[in-house]
Amino acid sequence: MPSITDQTHLLGEQYNTSANLSARSSLHERFSVNQQGWHPWVFDQLASLPESSRILELGCGPGWLWVHNWQRIPPGWEITLTDLSPGMIAQARQNLAAEGEARFRFDVIDAQEIPYPDAAFDAVVANHMLYHVPDRPRALAEIRRVLKPGGQLLAATNGHNHMAELWEIVLQVTDATRDANRSEFHFGLESGREQLQPWFDVIERRDYPDALLVTEAEPLIAYAASSALWGVQGDAAATERLAAHVRRQLASEGVIRINKNSGIFVARR
Ligand SMILES: C[S@@+](CC[C@H](N)C(=O)[O-])C[C@H]1O[C@@H](n2cnc3c(N)ncnc32)[C@H](O)[C@@H]1O
Repeated sequence: MPSITDQTHLLGEQYNTSANLSARSSLHERFSVNQQGWHPWVFDQLASLPESSRILELGCGPGWLWVHNWQRIPPGWEITLTDLSPGMIAQARQNLAAEGEARFRFDVIDAQEIPYPDAAFDAVVANHMLYHVPDRPRALAEIRRVLKPGGQLLAATNGHNHMAELWEIVLQVTDATRDANRSEFHFGLESGREQLQPWFDVIERRDYPDALLVTEAEPLIAYAASSALWGVQGDAAATERLAAHVRRQLASEGVIRINKNSGIFVARR
């Protein structure tokens, strides 16, 4: 299985387009308990920024943070959306075109080598992306460099118990191993603060309480098939075993509860 920091795999397969991310997102959108929604909550964490601010998002994916909060963006914010994947940037452009693409600047960049001047931004957003970056100290040094004094990094990620009940299921029916190649082992809610400390003066962790109550098999199977992590991708027999297990559990219990463990670090320089 490729490492989650394998940038060639991420660019060529996992995030070549937004299809895999969309399969995961649609499970969250359909079956989450917390009605606020992840992206509105992340946007709330930016709320203290002044009316006139410059914001950089790294690893923006399809631009969902802005699509879901379009009505709330202050007119004075200048927003630069960036990602390592040209396919993601093309999708972000398309998703935001209706809202007025002129409000955003788009760029294909690597978080480890940010091509902008020192002290250019009031905030940097890294939403579920730092765990993909192979040299995180280099990326964090770059983030600090492009932030103004007093500027903030918002770094969202998962904790060790994220989707624990899905792990219990896949470990029974596939060859997946609950190994160190998981997001939370690279940059997680438990390990993030220590990694941020050399670069930031004040670090606050804020958690987003949520769980999934899944009542249909197909979206859960599509979720598991969207990443090599869960042991079913490209393996028809393993996919069938997972599908049979999920359908049996739904038939007997009516619902599968899967707890989430996500949150954000707000770090100021
Ligand atoms: C899990 S997705 C999150 C996308 C988006 N932030 C969201 O939450 O919907 C991770 C994103 O990080 C990007 N990425 C991975 N490595 C990167 C790097 N070194 N620099 C910039 N972006 C990177 C991927 O292409 C992908 O779009």
